[in-house]
Amino acid sequence: MQACGPTPLISVADYEAAAAARLDAGAHGYMAGGAGDELTLTDNVAAWRRLAITPRMLVGVGSRDPSVSLLGVRRAHPLLIAPMAFQRMAHPDGELAMARAAEATGSIMCLSTLATATPAEVASAAPGAPRWFQLYVFSDRGVSRELVARAVEHGYEALVVTVDLPILGVRERDLRSGVHAASGEVVAGAAAAGARGTMSPADFAALIDPDLRWPDIERFVDESPLPVVVKGILTPEDARLAAEHGASAVVVSNHGGRQLDTVMAGADALGPIVDEVGERVEVLVDGGIRRGTDVLKALALGARAVMIGRPALWGLAVAGDRGAQRVLEILLAEFDAALALSGARDATGLDRRFVCRAPWVAAPR
Ligand code: FNR
Ligand code: LAC
Repeated sequence: MQACGPTPLISVADYEAAAAARLDAGAHGYMAGGAGDELTLTDNVAAWRRLAITPRMLVGVGSRDPSVSLLGVRRAHPLLIAPMAFQRMAHPDGELAMARAAEATGSIMCLSTLATATPAEVASAAPGAPRWFQLYVFSDRGVSRELVARAVEHGYEALVVTVDLPILGVRERDLRSGVHAASGEVVAGAAAAGARGTMSPADFAALIDPDLRWPDIERFVDESPLPVVVKGILTPEDARLAAEHGASAVVVSNHGGRQLDTVMAGADALGPIVDEVGERVEVLVDGGIRRGTDVLKALALGARAVMIGRPALWGLAVAGDRGAQRVLEILLAEFDAALALSGARDATGLDRRFVCRAPWVAAPR
């Protein structure tokens, strides 16, 4: 167990506080911050708390199974590490350490296009970590095709196309701090698209094609041997379009509240999207997941799996691969307890019987 001084770190919140104490203001602002007034950032966490669990008793929970099936593969549990750019801002070992944590916990790691390590380096740092590749489609489409080819070559099992960042959200913490994300040359994916020298997150985002459209998704589906996952969907209409254009899965996500402020929380967008496309594509969700009970609620609402963003970053910032591993272990232990105490027993047995609007939340008038 890690400690911050005399106090052991036993929850995501503990790691969040410990990371805040260690990171410089610019790096912390970039990682913790959101867009605009950060209302969605805050609501992402609050939305899970607006749901109550309705447990069942005396079902025999001596043995529990957290495994799930995701894109046709049995996975040990439903937690993935969300793609997050520039992880060397959190720890010198960056994505290599995050991959080791993924390997140690049997978690899928989703590697960002804007990673400070190449797909090959991550693959060799933790060959046992299941890997997905998250693609930002640059205006130079040749670069994107090359990135996908590298990912395929190095054993990445899915292509996650992020569609909610045609331009970077308005991030006031970064505007105030003038944070330097990384040198263009260090971010191999972006270097191929021309990134050079000291660059801000906005400089990197400016390389991304703002004109991406649904036919482009279909082209990736046709051209890539990997299943395509569309990340950043918040409406049933777009989830239906993702299914119609060949996506195998969608991630219900508002980018951790970092793009357009006052969009709905992932927890609130999830149910209607599962109702619309749950029979045709697999649905994942991310945003504000900080407890094992949040994971249980997400699966009860119909998500196949969840992506964990900032909590993994806090662990990385505090203690590198061991810290990120510890955070994932904490969430998995909490999820196991939630399975037992809700009477769900198996992750695949979760459904809407296990959640309701929390009685402490005033019903809409
Ligand atoms: C992100 N996110 C993100 N998403 C993506 O598709 N590509 C990326 O490169 C990044 N970069 C990134 C950096 C940082 C510092 C953060 C915090 C987030 C969004 C991420 O994948 C995920 O959607 C959210 O982080 C989920 O919300 P939580 O778990 O952070 O609350
Ligand atoms: C971010 C982009 C890089 O959220 O995904 O910072």
